[in-house]
Amino acid sequence: MLQIVPSIFAADFVRLGDDVRKVEQAGIQMLHVDIMDGHFVPNFTVGTPITESLRRFTRVKLDHHLMIEDPDTYAPIFIKAGADCVSVHYEVCRNLNRTLHMIQDNGAKAGVVINPATPVPLLQEVLDIADYVLVMSVNPGYGGQAFIPNSLRKVRELARVREERKLGFAIEIDGGVGPENIADVARAGVDWVVAGSSVFQAPDPAAAVREMLHLAADAFSVKV
Ligand code: DX5
Ligand code: ZN
Repeated sequence: MLQIVPSIFAADFVRLGDDVRKVEQAGIQMLHVDIMDGHFVPNFTVGTPITESLRRFTRVKLDHHLMIEDPDTYAPIFIKAGADCVSVHYEVCRNLNRTLHMIQDNGAKAGVVINPATPVPLLQEVLDIADYVLVMSVNPGYGGQAFIPNSLRKVRELARVREERKLGFAIEIDGGVGPENIADVARAGVDWVVAGSSVFQAPDPAAAVREMLHLAADAFSVKV
């Protein structure tokens, strides 16, 4: 079942609690928390205080996307603060197997993220370890960017390998997804759809989530 995972990066941080309550009304099961260090990406976001506050405030799962140079040091700190799922970029991990196992040993689901320029076959050796694979459909660092269409080919490739090898990882996509392309994203085989501006910049974030879920479900229905 496809899930919409709202990214709080696009929320109003002065009213973060209100924005979270709005998307909870649409029945979301997970929130996406972008962590940027100003090195791996040319931008900063938030640290553990936001994770701790969210953990006290909501029961939904907290999916942490670490866009940072040193995930080995910081993943356990975010897990301790309340992260349920932690994804790390392929591009910064010298010992990716060890990092994924370390995240799992600390009690969280472990994801691996690939940038638009990183090909899927490079993940071949870790697909039986990772709990999920995040395909970046924009270059990380900013919200509101245009979706890179080639990302769907990467999603289809991952879905095919998952079936061939009978693996269980979830496929997540992040960046530039909204009502205009959610049907294509759903058909490609995505399980978790991160959506920032298309949810929190909408006049009614809960309605935006519901609309995208509806469009995704419609993408599979047979028209007669
Ligand atoms: C971008 C972040 C995304 C961002 C997506 O680097 O990883 O999670 O919030 O925002 P939209 O949906 O606006 O592209
Ligand atoms: Zn993200």
